[in-house]
Amino acid sequence: MIRDILTYPNPILRKKSQDVVKFNEELHTLLDDMYETMLHYNGVGLAAIQVGLPLNVLIINLPNDEDVQEKSNLIEAINPKITHKDGIQIFTEGCLSVPGFNEDVKRAQHIIVEYFDRFGNAKTMEAEDFLAVAWQHEMEHLSGHLFIENLSIIKRKKFEKEWKRKLKEESKKA
Ligand code: CO
Repeated sequence: MIRDILTYPNPILRKKSQDVVKFNEELHTLLDDMYETMLHYNGVGLAAIQVGLPLNVLIINLPNDEDVQEKSNLIEAINPKITHKDGIQIFTEGCLSVPGFNEDVKRAQHIIVEYFDRFGNAKTMEAEDFLAVAWQHEMEHLSGHLFIENLSIIKRKKFEKEWKRKLKEESKKA
């Protein structure tokens, strides 16, 4: 089932997510719905809080070299923790909760992350480049933050101005 995605400045997006304790059918339905929702809105990652649930659950599905999002590459992460970060990279990010806005963000280039799969099996993953960006972006959602909070004051002001104009235009249409 496709779920609604919360968008900025919805205050629920600022909630800190909690660890999952039961790896049950409810969790599996949430993960399946998040996958369907992410593809429907053409995203490459989604955190549970973006569909309104403050749970430490995220998915990532980056396109391959042919620009295809293969389901075999889908990452489902429960209660993830970044245990190592190094290096610096700047990447132009976007977010389904801030639709239509992209901006450069500075992140670690290489990370190691520990998490559980949908069945509660412990996993470790090493990621760099775009995949490391996606992990850090989604992890930020779980702590109640959005990528726009990383922007410089000038860029943030520019964003707020553009966003207000966009919301105003949308309310006129409605
Ligand atoms: Co996002």
